[in-house]
Amino acid sequence: MKTLNDFLQMKKGGEKIVMLTAYDYPSALLAQESGVDIVLVGDSLGMVVLGYDSTVPVTMADMIHHSRAARRGAKDTFMITDMPFLSYQISPAQALENAGRLVQEGGCEAVKVEGGEEIAPQVRALVRAGVPVCAHIGLTPQSATALSGYKVQGRTAEAAAKLLKDALALEEAGAFMIVLECIPVQVAELISKRLSIPTIGIGAGVACDGQVLVHHDTLGLFDRFTPKFVKRYETLGAKARDALAAYARDVRDGVFPGPEHTFNMNESEVQRIYGDS
Ligand code: KIV
Repeated sequence: MKTLNDFLQMKKGGEKIVMLTAYDYPSALLAQESGVDIVLVGDSLGMVVLGYDSTVPVTMADMIHHSRAARRGAKDTFMITDMPFLSYQISPAQALENAGRLVQEGGCEAVKVEGGEEIAPQVRALVRAGVPVCAHIGLTPQSATALSGYKVQGRTAEAAAKLLKDALALEEAGAFMIVLECIPVQVAELISKRLSIPTIGIGAGVACDGQVLVHHDTLGLFDRFTPKFVKRYETLGAKARDALAAYARDVRDGVFPGPEHTFNMNESEVQRIYGDS
């Protein structure tokens, strides 16, 4: 399993860091077997696994439940779990209590929190207590309503300067890594150059120190919408639908189960059944 120091060295050496979300045993096992550096149990599970319209309804119980399952699949991969909406914003004490539960009950190595310099006190408290923190700025889905929707952030010089200020404050508070979501490539490049900690981009261009994608987007398992920054490496959703439709057809046509899926008794035992009845 990689360590915080490995991630720092990867940034220094120009080696890209690969992060991928996972939410359960099979998706985490796939992520580990494909050799990703970090598994993120993202609260995007609210949308791609639980069917909500946003990440806001996701609870601590959801995140612990899914982290435990992902941990069983990715025993040897560094795992970060998202702190859900309003589980850390209220106070450093609240953040500490809930992060402690994610580490102790969920089994993750680190937690991720959304927000800028306003949550630096929370980051500082967690790091002081020994909980590694990944920060997340730019488009922060938990506050999508306050941001007037899922829009690119930091498009003006003032907005870009604010993002840089946030990133520096979070680094100063002790974050070991920072996710940059949906910001112009130039802003991500500037932040990545100015920080000593690695930046992980999603919709932030190629200059980041690493990239993250959502499992379901990467494999084409989520069709409700596809953001511009997603690259689909497969269309498993369509393939799965075809396979399940073929199963339904076979059952209806009496073709499944076939002889190769069927168990048999000895002929003498069959005779006894009929003889006895
Ligand atoms: O919840 C999530 O999956 C995330 C990533 C998209 C960065 O926060």
